[in-house]
Amino acid sequence: MDTNAMFKIGYGLYVLTAAENGKDNGCIVNTFQQVTSDPLRVCVCVNKANYTCGMIERTGVFNVSVIDESASFQLFRHFGFQSGKEVDKFAADIDAPRCANGVRAINSSTNAVICARVVQKIDLGTHLMFIADVTDAVIKSALETATYSYYQRVIKPKPAKAPAKKGWRCLICGYFYEGETLPADFICPLCKHPASDFERVQ
Ligand SMILES: Cc1cc2nc3c(=O)[nH]c(=O)nc-3n(C[C@H](O)[C@H](O)[C@H](O)COP(=O)(O)O)c2cc1C
Repeated sequence: MDTNAMFKIGYGLYVLTAAENGKDNGCIVNTFQQVTSDPLRVCVCVNKANYTCGMIERTGVFNVSVIDESASFQLFRHFGFQSGKEVDKFAADIDAPRCANGVRAINSSTNAVICARVVQKIDLGTHLMFIADVTDAVIKSALETATYSYYQRVIKPKPAKAPAKKGWRCLICGYFYEGETLPADFICPLCKHPASDFERVQ
Protein backbone atom coordinates (compact mmCIF):
# COMPACT_ATOMS: atom_id res chain seq x y z
CA MET A 1 0.00 0.00 0.00
CA ASP A 2 1.33 3.46 -0.93
CA THR A 3 0.08 5.85 1.74
CA ASN A 4 1.45 8.75 -0.36
CA ALA A 5 -1.86 8.36 -2.23
CA MET A 6 -3.36 10.32 0.70
CA PHE A 7 -1.46 13.39 -0.54
CA LYS A 8 -3.46 13.20 -3.79
CA ILE A 9 -6.65 14.08 -1.90
CA GLY A 10 -7.55 17.68 -2.75
CA TYR A 11 -7.50 19.18 0.73
CA GLY A 12 -7.84 22.88 1.42
CA LEU A 13 -6.12 24.50 4.40
CA TYR A 14 -7.79 26.38 7.21
CA VAL A 15 -7.24 28.24 10.48
CA LEU A 16 -9.62 26.65 13.00
CA THR A 17 -10.31 29.03 15.89
CA ALA A 18 -12.03 28.71 19.26
CA ALA A 19 -12.51 30.78 22.41
CA GLU A 20 -12.97 29.77 26.04
CA ASN A 21 -12.94 31.75 29.29
CA GLY A 22 -11.36 34.81 27.68
CA LYS A 23 -8.66 32.82 25.88
CA ASP A 24 -8.49 32.71 22.08
CA ASN A 25 -6.68 29.98 20.19
CA GLY A 26 -6.45 28.37 16.80
CA CYS A 27 -4.64 25.75 14.74
CA ILE A 28 -4.08 24.81 11.12
CA VAL A 29 -6.27 22.00 9.77
CA ASN A 30 -6.77 20.31 6.42
CA THR A 31 -9.63 18.08 7.57
CA PHE A 32 -12.50 20.54 7.15
CA GLN A 33 -15.34 20.08 4.68
CA GLN A 34 -19.05 20.54 4.03
CA VAL A 35 -21.04 17.36 4.73
CA THR A 36 -24.69 18.33 4.03
CA SER A 37 -26.43 21.32 2.46
CA ASP A 38 -29.87 21.05 4.11
CA PRO A 39 -29.22 21.51 6.95
CA LEU A 40 -25.98 23.29 6.05
CA ARG A 41 -23.37 21.28 7.96
CA VAL A 42 -19.62 20.96 8.02
CA CYS A 43 -17.16 18.69 9.78
CA VAL A 44 -13.60 18.96 11.03
CA CYS A 45 -11.24 16.39 12.57
CA VAL A 46 -8.99 17.63 15.36
CA ASN A 47 -6.25 15.74 17.17
CA LYS A 48 -7.15 15.27 20.85
CA ALA A 49 -3.64 16.47 21.78
CA ASN A 50 -4.37 19.89 20.26
CA TYR A 51 -5.44 22.63 22.63
CA THR A 52 -8.05 23.74 20.10
CA CYS A 53 -9.72 20.31 20.29
CA GLY A 54 -10.59 20.55 23.99
CA MET A 55 -11.78 24.14 23.58
CA ILE A 56 -14.24 23.12 20.85
CA GLU A 57 -15.33 20.03 22.79
CA ARG A 58 -16.17 22.16 25.84
CA THR A 59 -17.69 25.23 24.10
CA GLY A 60 -19.26 23.64 21.00
CA VAL A 61 -18.38 26.67 18.88
CA PHE A 62 -15.68 27.26 16.27
CA ASN A 63 -14.77 29.35 13.26
CA VAL A 64 -12.90 28.34 10.14
CA SER A 65 -10.89 30.83 8.09
CA VAL A 66 -10.21 29.47 4.60
CA ILE A 67 -6.53 30.15 3.87
CA ASP A 68 -5.88 31.71 0.46
CA GLU A 69 -2.81 31.61 -1.79
CA SER A 70 -1.45 34.92 -0.43
CA ALA A 71 -0.62 33.20 2.88
CA SER A 72 3.00 33.08 4.03
CA PHE A 73 4.76 30.19 5.75
CA GLN A 74 4.70 32.34 8.91
CA LEU A 75 0.91 31.82 9.19
CA PHE A 76 1.42 28.04 9.16
CA ARG A 77 4.31 28.25 11.61
CA HIS A 78 2.29 30.47 13.95
CA PHE A 79 -0.91 28.40 14.05
CA GLY A 80 0.41 24.96 13.06
CA PHE A 81 3.80 24.44 14.69
CA GLN A 82 3.15 25.60 18.25
CA SER A 83 0.43 24.91 20.78
CA GLY A 84 -1.88 27.19 22.70
CA LYS A 85 -0.89 25.08 25.71
CA GLU A 86 2.50 26.83 25.63
CA VAL A 87 1.93 30.16 23.89
CA ASP A 88 -0.81 32.72 23.48
CA LYS A 89 -1.19 32.76 19.69
CA PHE A 90 -3.25 35.94 19.88
CA ALA A 91 -0.92 37.85 22.21
CA ALA A 92 0.80 39.47 19.23
CA ASP A 93 -0.98 42.06 17.11
CA ILE A 94 -2.87 39.62 14.90
CA ASP A 95 -5.53 40.93 12.53
CA ALA A 96 -8.33 38.67 13.73
CA PRO A 97 -11.59 40.39 14.72
CA ARG A 98 -14.20 38.62 16.82
CA CYS A 99 -17.25 37.28 14.97
CA ALA A 100 -20.81 37.48 16.34
CA ASN A 101 -20.38 34.07 18.00
CA GLY A 102 -17.54 35.46 20.16
CA VAL A 103 -14.78 33.53 18.36
CA ARG A 104 -12.05 35.29 16.43
CA ALA A 105 -11.23 34.65 12.76
CA ILE A 106 -8.17 35.78 10.82
CA ASN A 107 -8.79 38.76 8.56
CA SER A 108 -5.92 38.52 6.06
CA SER A 109 -4.66 35.61 3.93
CA THR A 110 -8.21 34.28 4.02
CA ASN A 111 -10.90 34.24 1.32
CA ALA A 112 -13.84 33.18 3.51
CA VAL A 113 -14.87 32.70 7.14
CA ILE A 114 -17.35 30.06 8.27
CA CYS A 115 -18.84 30.10 11.79
CA ALA A 116 -20.17 26.84 13.21
CA ARG A 117 -21.92 25.26 16.21
CA VAL A 118 -21.27 21.60 17.04
CA VAL A 119 -24.25 19.22 16.78
CA GLN A 120 -22.40 15.90 17.01
CA LYS A 121 -19.01 14.64 18.18
CA ILE A 122 -17.48 11.36 16.98
CA ASP A 123 -14.52 9.80 18.78
CA LEU A 124 -12.01 8.55 16.18
CA GLY A 125 -9.33 7.45 18.64
CA THR A 126 -6.55 9.99 18.05
CA HIS A 127 -8.97 12.65 16.78
CA LEU A 128 -12.44 14.00 17.49
CA MET A 129 -14.66 14.67 14.50
CA PHE A 130 -16.98 17.63 15.08
CA ILE A 131 -20.08 17.85 12.90
CA ALA A 132 -21.53 21.34 13.08
CA ASP A 133 -24.30 23.63 11.81
CA VAL A 134 -23.06 26.65 9.85
CA THR A 135 -24.31 29.69 11.76
CA ASP A 136 -22.70 32.37 9.58
CA ALA A 137 -20.50 32.59 6.51
CA VAL A 138 -18.80 35.46 4.70
CA ILE A 139 -16.63 35.77 1.60
CA LYS A 140 -13.53 37.93 2.19
CA SER A 141 -11.72 37.93 -1.16
CA ALA A 142 -11.64 36.43 -4.66
CA LEU A 143 -8.22 34.80 -4.18
CA GLU A 144 -7.89 31.04 -4.68
CA THR A 145 -7.94 28.73 -1.66
CA ALA A 146 -4.49 27.41 -0.72
CA THR A 147 -4.63 23.66 -1.25
CA TYR A 148 -2.41 21.17 0.53
CA SER A 149 -0.41 20.61 -2.67
CA TYR A 150 0.00 24.40 -3.14
CA TYR A 151 1.36 24.57 0.41
CA GLN A 152 3.83 21.76 -0.38
CA ARG A 153 4.90 23.23 -3.76
CA VAL A 154 4.91 26.99 -3.10
CA ILE A 155 4.48 28.05 0.53
CA LYS A 156 6.64 25.56 2.46
CA PRO A 157 10.32 26.63 2.29
CA LYS A 158 12.63 24.27 0.44
CA PRO A 159 15.54 22.92 2.49
CA ALA A 160 18.66 25.04 1.76
CA LYS A 161 20.71 21.93 1.07
CA ALA A 162 20.29 18.23 1.70
CA PRO A 163 21.34 17.29 5.23
CA ALA A 164 24.62 15.40 5.38
CA LYS A 165 23.15 12.89 7.81
CA LYS A 166 20.74 10.04 7.18
CA GLY A 167 17.28 10.31 8.60
CA TRP A 168 13.65 11.06 7.95
CA ARG A 169 11.98 14.34 6.93
CA CYS A 170 8.42 15.32 7.80
CA LEU A 171 6.54 15.96 4.54
CA ILE A 172 4.25 18.38 6.34
CA CYS A 173 6.60 20.81 8.09
CA GLY A 174 10.14 19.74 7.11
CA TYR A 175 11.23 18.58 10.60
CA PHE A 176 14.32 16.32 10.31
CA TYR A 177 14.65 13.15 12.42
CA GLU A 178 18.22 11.87 12.47
CA GLY A 179 18.58 8.09 12.55
CA GLU A 180 18.41 4.93 10.52
CA THR A 181 14.95 3.84 11.71
CA LEU A 182 11.96 6.02 12.42
CA PRO A 183 9.87 4.50 15.24
CA ALA A 184 6.44 3.45 13.91
CA ASP A 185 4.69 5.44 16.64
CA PHE A 186 6.81 8.57 16.08
CA ILE A 187 4.85 11.86 16.16
CA CYS A 188 6.40 14.98 14.62
CA PRO A 189 7.24 17.32 17.52
CA LEU A 190 6.48 20.36 15.34
CA CYS A 191 3.25 19.60 13.48
CA LYS A 192 2.12 16.41 15.31
CA HIS A 193 1.83 14.34 12.13
CA PRO A 194 2.57 10.58 12.35
CA ALA A 195 5.49 8.48 11.02
CA SER A 196 3.57 7.74 7.80
CA ASP A 197 4.01 11.41 6.82
CA PHE A 198 7.86 11.13 6.88
CA GLU A 199 10.12 10.43 3.89
CA ARG A 200 13.53 8.72 4.01
CA VAL A 201 16.52 11.04 3.48
CA GLN A 202 19.60 9.13 2.34
C1 LIG B 1 -0.47 21.73 6.87
C2 LIG B 1 -0.96 21.31 8.23
C3 LIG B 1 -2.16 20.61 8.35
C4 LIG B 1 -2.64 20.22 9.61
N1 LIG B 1 -3.85 19.56 9.71
C5 LIG B 1 -4.35 19.23 10.93
C6 LIG B 1 -5.66 18.62 11.05
O1 LIG B 1 -6.38 18.42 10.07
N2 LIG B 1 -6.09 18.30 12.31
C7 LIG B 1 -5.34 18.54 13.42
O2 LIG B 1 -5.78 18.22 14.52
N3 LIG B 1 -4.10 19.13 13.34
C8 LIG B 1 -3.60 19.47 12.12
N4 LIG B 1 -2.36 20.10 12.01
C9 LIG B 1 -1.55 20.28 13.24
C10 LIG B 1 -1.98 21.44 14.15
O3 LIG B 1 -2.18 22.63 13.41
C11 LIG B 1 -0.85 21.67 15.19
O4 LIG B 1 -0.66 20.49 15.94
C12 LIG B 1 -1.08 22.87 16.10
O5 LIG B 1 0.14 23.24 16.69
C13 LIG B 1 -2.09 22.61 17.23
O6 LIG B 1 -2.22 23.81 17.98
P1 LIG B 1 -3.06 23.87 19.35
O7 LIG B 1 -2.45 22.88 20.31
O8 LIG B 1 -2.89 25.29 19.82
O9 LIG B 1 -4.47 23.54 19.04
C14 LIG B 1 -1.89 20.53 10.78
C15 LIG B 1 -0.68 21.25 10.65
C16 LIG B 1 -0.23 21.64 9.40
C17 LIG B 1 1.07 22.44 9.30
